[in-house]
Amino acid sequence: MEEQIQKYLSEIEAFTATSAAELESFRIQFLGKKGVMNALFASFKDVAPENRKATGQALNGLKTAVENKLEEQRLQVELASNADGPSDDLTKTPVPSPLGSRHPISTTIDEVIGIFQRIGFVLSEGPEIEDDWHNFTALNLPEDHPARDMQDTFFININPDHMLRTHTSSVQVRYMEGHQPPIRIISPGRVFRNEAISARSHCMFHQVEGLYIDRKVSFADMVQTLRHFAREMFGTDAKIRLRPSYFPFTEPSAEMDVYWGLKTEADYRMTKGTGWLEVLGCGMVDPRVLENCGIDPEIYSGFAFGIGIERTAMRQYQIPDIRLFTENDLRFLQNFQSVG
Ligand code: PHE
Repeated sequence: MEEQIQKYLSEIEAFTATSAAELESFRIQFLGKKGVMNALFASFKDVAPENRKATGQALNGLKTAVENKLEEQRLQVELASNADGPSDDLTKTPVPSPLGSRHPISTTIDEVIGIFQRIGFVLSEGPEIEDDWHNFTALNLPEDHPARDMQDTFFININPDHMLRTHTSSVQVRYMEGHQPPIRIISPGRVFRNEAISARSHCMFHQVEGLYIDRKVSFADMVQTLRHFAREMFGTDAKIRLRPSYFPFTEPSAEMDVYWGLKTEADYRMTKGTGWLEVLGCGMVDPRVLENCGIDPEIYSGFAFGIGIERTAMRQYQIPDIRLFTENDLRFLQNFQSVG
């Protein structure tokens, strides 16, 4: 019996399977009901008592060898059948990994900044968490002023004097407090308002603020500057209009609309049925604001404007719903795949 076991051991050792079927017949040959192992175990009773221990061990060793071989060959067969899958061939054409793209809001902000930088404005930024003075009071909105309700505010719980800024006009105040005219700044940033979210408005959006203060700056200067912006941004054939408006920090005040179109239901929704989309608020800085910030209104005057970036980008790329900007849907974002 010992001899037989040795013979099987070397047979097992030499075995390799090239298919699952081969492997299965090997299994049946040894472990099947009428297989080698059962036959050997059956004749174990004929082994002389003094040899039983050694023969028993050899038999168990044989069984383990069969089982190990089965496992090893099963892996081999599996690997061979996966040969078409991933391989180590480094010369193969790689699966291209998708490139990310710039968010249309970033692109639009950069474009707006570029337009104003080219005519002499410089960049200046301020914090997103503001205090009451910079967001409201210095801008001619004293406490209890009804115009504070124009912009529903998110206050910071632990300090009611602090809030998420409702507009980038707060940066005007900060800059004027630290600089005397001539001032020409452009201030991009995120702003927050406690508003119901719809296709047209969001509780978080972006503005680019502009401020120009010098001697003898007039309303006509403002109109020409904003016209220049509109032409650069929307093209020379874009229709724009200025409407009289009201802001506590500018006098007179206006809003600029750009023509959107009025064909589809989305056009009606976006423009409230007018065909025009409001893209910015502007006006001559109120003398009270200059005074609050330490600038002499007898000598200096100027204008300010706040451009809505989402609105601008929507017009630019024909995006019919402001919520698309913050949903991070790749199908939307991939439309803006650019070179860099
Ligand atoms: N801060 C105004 C707003 O958020 C826009 C504005 C800026 C108006 C500067 C006039 C001057 O709506």
